[in-house]
Amino acid sequence: MTAGIFDRAQSAVRYIREKEPRPIDVAVVLGSGLGNFAETLVERQIIPYEEIPDFVRSTVEGHSGRLVIGRLPESSLVAAVMQGRFHYYEGYSMEEVTLPIRTFGGLGVKRLVLTNAAGGVNANFRPGDFMLISDHINMMLTSPLRGQHDHRLGARFPDLSEVYSREYRQLAQEVAAEVGLQLHAGVYMALQGPNYESPAEIRMIRLLGADAIGMSTVPEAIVGCQMGMKILGVSLITNAAAGVIDEPINHEEVLTMGQRVSGEFTRFLSGFLQRIVIGGAGR
Ligand code: HPA
Repeated sequence: MTAGIFDRAQSAVRYIREKEPRPIDVAVVLGSGLGNFAETLVERQIIPYEEIPDFVRSTVEGHSGRLVIGRLPESSLVAAVMQGRFHYYEGYSMEEVTLPIRTFGGLGVKRLVLTNAAGGVNANFRPGDFMLISDHINMMLTSPLRGQHDHRLGARFPDLSEVYSREYRQLAQEVAAEVGLQLHAGVYMALQGPNYESPAEIRMIRLLGADAIGMSTVPEAIVGCQMGMKILGVSLITNAAAGVIDEPINHEEVLTMGQRVSGEFTRFLSGFLQRIVIGGAGR
């Protein structure tokens, strides 16, 4: 039998600890096109995913596939930043998709920021807008917690009534106002992908109560929640979802939008991270 998820995460933990002994205050997963934030950190330790035991490779263009650990300038906060994530649509198992989150848990991380690129289902959203994830709908139709239970990973039946911390959402709104970033709030729905949706599906998705649609984040959030992490989720609306306007969607525009807003996004994220330290939440 292959090693269980707990042991697999522990091998990754040992490898990372050896390279980087500083305690990690927060983990950040950067979505498509949002990778630039990692460049703003100082005293950086860069670990390509292929070096980390049991990490798979990110195969998607726009996701460079490395873990950057560094300090936020003018702060003592140490962040572990994933430039690129693993997606279910790449063919990886849910266990593989969420192994990095298990690894962060094993490293003692209690704060998690999940970001992604998403299609705007809500007609008030414009490409380039940001949406705070207030809740999610898991339409991947499987759970990363499916399978044999290991109590070291957390509860068998975790409560998901506040996956995205209310306190973090409040803080994020305050920081967004300070840096002049317009931040909507809404429900993120995840589908398996990799195809974008049809206009009829988007009409259904809107009826079901989603404001933004994407192909990631939800498995990571469920695992983070099971491990007791406090989570902030932010979507960059890169395009109007299919049929919302009469234009096709392509991956290029998804990436380009990330680059266009990267300055704004970095100011917001740095401001948020600075505030969580000042607030003294967590470690
Ligand atoms: N649909 C699903 N995922 C996405 C989209 C979309 O329109 N845009 C960026 N990621």
